[in-house]
Amino acid sequence: MRTYLVTGGAGFIGSNYIHYIFGKYGDEIRVINLDDLTYAGNPENLKDIENRDNYRFVKGDVCDTDAVRAIFAEEDIDRVVHFAAESHVDRSIKDPLAFVRANVLGTVNLLNCAKEAWEKEDGTYPENKRFLHVSTDEVYGSLPEEGGYFYETTPYAPHSPYSASKAGSDMLVRAFMDTYGFPANITNCSNNYGPYQFPEKLIPLMINNALQGKKLPVYGDGKNVRDWLYVEDHAKAIDMVQEKGKIFETYNIGGHNEKQNIEIVKTIIEVLREELPDDDPRKAHVTEDLITYVEDRKGHDRRYAIAPDKIRAEIGWEPETMFKEGIRKTIRWYFEHQDWMENVTSGDYQKYYQSMYNV
Ligand code: NAD
Ligand code: TYD
Repeated sequence: MRTYLVTGGAGFIGSNYIHYIFGKYGDEIRVINLDDLTYAGNPENLKDIENRDNYRFVKGDVCDTDAVRAIFAEEDIDRVVHFAAESHVDRSIKDPLAFVRANVLGTVNLLNCAKEAWEKEDGTYPENKRFLHVSTDEVYGSLPEEGGYFYETTPYAPHSPYSASKAGSDMLVRAFMDTYGFPANITNCSNNYGPYQFPEKLIPLMINNALQGKKLPVYGDGKNVRDWLYVEDHAKAIDMVQEKGKIFETYNIGGHNEKQNIEIVKTIIEVLREELPDDDPRKAHVTEDLITYVEDRKGHDRRYAIAPDKIRAEIGWEPETMFKEGIRKTIRWYFEHQDWMENVTSGDYQKYYQSMYNV
């Protein structure tokens, strides 16, 4: 039985990944989920698996050496999949230090503890041990509108405190591989969308606001481009990199699905209108009249676009979910889980939203 330590498994991508691996491997694996349950972590995302015998939740901070060491002492960990991070660019602009702490210090602490547990006396590592660091395409900076792609060889040029802190964490993983021969991979993925995403990010925020008849705040001219990938395709790519990827390699993950933000917002309105029954009173206010252009994000990257050539050629991964299908599935999920949305948008998030958007 293979044992996974998943960090940040109560967040958006982490919870989707845990669902994915239980769906694929069932009782053949054991999963330990280390999550500090920040505002973005929600145990409700995993309520259907929380009683499994082969699942254990540990509430704790990846920066806490004693807590991480204890997990490695108690469990025979074969795979680490490191999602835990502060992940929202706008928050990083307000509070960079929190990002350096969680993303940089958290990663080096996890690396240190894994190394301590796994390294043999001769300085090598057992064959089956693997550490996968989940990173972002934002470390590569911004592309011009006219063209170009991010490759694994593209130099790092982060602009926001978020992307700089992720770049720092990637560099530490590289340093562990180069210095200690530590068995790791890095994946740099484009923007994800799908179920369980916290509604501070573009797609769930727009769905939630539109349903409530609130304004849809589009930053700047709305023409910034992101390359959107359905979250389950990301989960599958991570699993394939762990099982088939070459050790020490970096893989870019993305779907060749570039969209301007304004296109995304208009698609959400269109699909919501198709999905809402005619007698639903919300249908009257879900229109493009809700779109409101607001002040641009500071240092707003213009365009991201991943070239997934390497992961396709070496591992055989390709995105499977077309955007039209993925966005409809996502919208239906938020429709069917309005209690989830209410739970995560109460309390602290309300205060954050008011301070961000002056409402
Ligand atoms: P998220 O904000 O939804 O979830 C982050 C999770 O980490 C939460 O459950 C939170 O409680 C936990 N966490 C935060 N700080 C922690 C700490 N110090 N100790 C323990 N747990 C902590 O983020 P997400 O969107 O699921 O992103 C997961 C990872 O994937 C991040 O590393 C992010 O950089 C990366 N990534 C995200 C995207 C995207 O589009 N969302 C794209 C590429 C890469
Ligand atoms: P986001 O979901 O925060 O992801 P990231 O900044 O990591 O790519 O934002 C996606 C894009 O949407 C980005 O260009 C900023 C823009 N955006 C808005 O226009 N309005 C909003 O309210 C939000 C949250 C984002």
